[in-house]
Amino acid sequence: MTDLGAAVVGCRAVAPLHARGFVRADGARLVAVCDRDPEAASTLAGEFGVDAVTDYEQILRRDDIQIVSLVTPDELHAPMAIAAAQAGKHVLVEKPFAMTLAELDTMVAAAESAGVTMMCAQSLRYRPKLRAIRDAIRAGRIGRPVFARMSSPSSPFWTPEKWAQGGYDAKRGPEWLLMHNGMHQFDYLSMLFESSISEVYTVSHPGQDWLRVHEYVAVNMQFENGAYALSEENRIMQPPGHPFHCDFYIVGTEGTIDAGDRQTFSVCSYSQQGVDFPGAHITSWGAEEAFAGEVQAIVDAIRTGEEPDIPLAFTRQVLKGLRAACQSFASGRNVDVAAFVEEGGSIA
Ligand SMILES: NC(=O)c1ccc[n+]([C@@H]2O[C@H](COP(=O)([O-])OP(=O)(O)OC[C@H]3O[C@@H](n4cnc5c(N)ncnc54)[C@H](O)[C@@H]3O)[C@@H](O)[C@H]2O)c1
Repeated sequence: MTDLGAAVVGCRAVAPLHARGFVRADGARLVAVCDRDPEAASTLAGEFGVDAVTDYEQILRRDDIQIVSLVTPDELHAPMAIAAAQAGKHVLVEKPFAMTLAELDTMVAAAESAGVTMMCAQSLRYRPKLRAIRDAIRAGRIGRPVFARMSSPSSPFWTPEKWAQGGYDAKRGPEWLLMHNGMHQFDYLSMLFESSISEVYTVSHPGQDWLRVHEYVAVNMQFENGAYALSEENRIMQPPGHPFHCDFYIVGTEGTIDAGDRQTFSVCSYSQQGVDFPGAHITSWGAEEAFAGEVQAIVDAIRTGEEPDIPLAFTRQVLKGLRAACQSFASGRNVDVAAFVEEGGSIA
């Protein structure tokens, strides 16, 4: 099989990491980047020496492109992924995969009927530190994991000026931070516990008086296998510019793993045998490896014809838990995920 031609669509924020992922990947090569903003497209294209395209339809019509990576605003993931599948392209979709379960189901149906591979880009689970934790747990270092607390605090997303710019912000509801970022932790914790979320209870705070989106959200989640987690999204740390970092620990039946960006030993494991450091050598988040990892995962799935590392059925369970957490956010009540019925549709 010749290398898959790839296009990265949406050229801001993490788009360069997607582009680099395709440059590094075995079995794929970056052919073009696309952004409706010509300057964003040409800047990224210039960095990688590939075509700059401003019309997504043009990307979908090209025969030298077999896979697209969607790094566009959350609300565009579903319509753009469906169009890509209908054009016969494989699709890597940034998180949140979709805004609603109804959108996800339409995306999955489009991928299945076109026979293309689609996967959610969950970079967090490919971060070297979090892979080391997963590997340590899989190796039985702390017995069976039963509790986790995961938090990634940083300074506020919005200033009054940025919020007033409108665009998608104007349509975003109070739960948007949870939808936007929550999928990372929901995905990682579901993978770690090897179980689906069964019940959620959400609390939140706006953080800033004038802001509609709540910048602090904490979700208590029960898993079907009895495990329990507290997942926090926190953008209220002051002053502005307070660095992003992760605080994370997992308690198992025979030990505990502590991980954080502010500890000398970034991953510590405590058990009856004493303390050891399964991730001591990993001092950074390893963003480049993380994005390269997710790109390689979908490229491998396409080339082998096997199910991707993150199957769509798994992503559906994760999104169902997240949507249930959004319902709990609005109602202030516990939500039973199995009985969860979605209200409303897409805001795109
Ligand atoms: N995995 C991660 O760690 C991570 C980190 C940041 C962002 N993301 C995700 O990446 C996505 C993009 O986030 P962002 O912060 O870069 O958003 P952004 O709004 O800054 O950039 C999106 C880009 O998409 C372009 N765009 C919009 N509509 C388009 C269209 N129809 N055709 C082509 N281009 C179009 C915009 O011009 C813009 O340049 C989001 O879904 C976000 O959740 C993931």
